[in-house]
Amino acid sequence: KAVSLLSVPFGLGGARQGAELGPKVLIEAGIVRHLTNLNIQVINEGEVILPPVAAASELTAIDTSTKQFVSASTNLKYLNEIIMLNTVAADRVSNIVEQGHFPLILGGDHSISIGTIAGIRRHYRNLGVIWFDAHGDLNTEATSPTGNIHGMSLAVNLGQGHPLLTQIHQSAYPIDPSKVVIIGARSLDQGEREYIRSFGVTCFTMHDIDRKGMLRVMEEALAIVGSGTDGVHLSFDIDSLDPYEAPGTGTPVQGGVNYREAHLALELMHESGLITSAEFVEVNPTLDQNKRTVLLANGLICSLLGQTIL
Ligand code: ARG
Ligand code: MN
Ligand code: MN
Ligand code: MN
Repeated sequence: KAVSLLSVPFGLGGARQGAELGPKVLIEAGIVRHLTNLNIQVINEGEVILPPVAAASELTAIDTSTKQFVSASTNLKYLNEIIMLNTVAADRVSNIVEQGHFPLILGGDHSISIGTIAGIRRHYRNLGVIWFDAHGDLNTEATSPTGNIHGMSLAVNLGQGHPLLTQIHQSAYPIDPSKVVIIGARSLDQGEREYIRSFGVTCFTMHDIDRKGMLRVMEEALAIVGSGTDGVHLSFDIDSLDPYEAPGTGTPVQGGVNYREAHLALELMHESGLITSAEFVEVNPTLDQNKRTVLLANGLICSLLGQTIL
């Protein structure tokens, strides 16, 4: 199956600038060549560009169904930009799925998954999601400590949050929270903990990885997302890795997944044959050290798509 590589150079969902440079440096690091060497046909689909956002006051936002500005008194940062970007991204990703290609999306901060998953969901009645992340990204404007929308994207993907964001998912098949698995969590806000408990999202924290080992965690995770689903999307936040491995990211958290565990996880995902789309987000080249994070992400993508040592 051909891989369609889609760049989403967008960084307004996080607190610091720089994630928008992720796709460019990943491509410069040779991702297309590396995948081609694995005998994969790669189609470079180019970039999702933020359309010009008409001047809106902080108290209004664009309603994508009516194309009108509506009152949106909110603490959400860059709400209009994120609505516009993700509305476009959803159509681009949907198009890739329609062509029968594997969507491989390069972020960008994690807010872009509102659009990527919106596009993918149109084609899968029962989509499973693996959310590899130090964080839950399950905040809403009511629980977010920061107002940064990259900390809310999984919640929006599950139908929770500002109506102008959840609306991007309209007329798509619902995602069953019991088919969503978070892996690598070690920084959860109180509202996120409550959400995980009450909605039945599975969360393998770093504690679980320490106790069970990555092999067993992945076996359990793949069993969950692989049963009763017709596709599985991988949303891989590079901050799931330890900051020692991945310094180039905007919200690093100590005590993360190490290099070998991460490769093992992605190799097991490849072996399972379950993954039908993937995105790699939150690589911030301005915070990187000697391209460590970029080269890491590049290698992890190769493991997901079938690279083995022997
Ligand atoms: N939980 C924090 C927040 O809501 C951090 C989120 C970090 N998310 C990310 N995709 N890196 O702001
Ligand atoms: Mn084709
Ligand atoms: Mn994230
Ligand atoms: Mn994160």
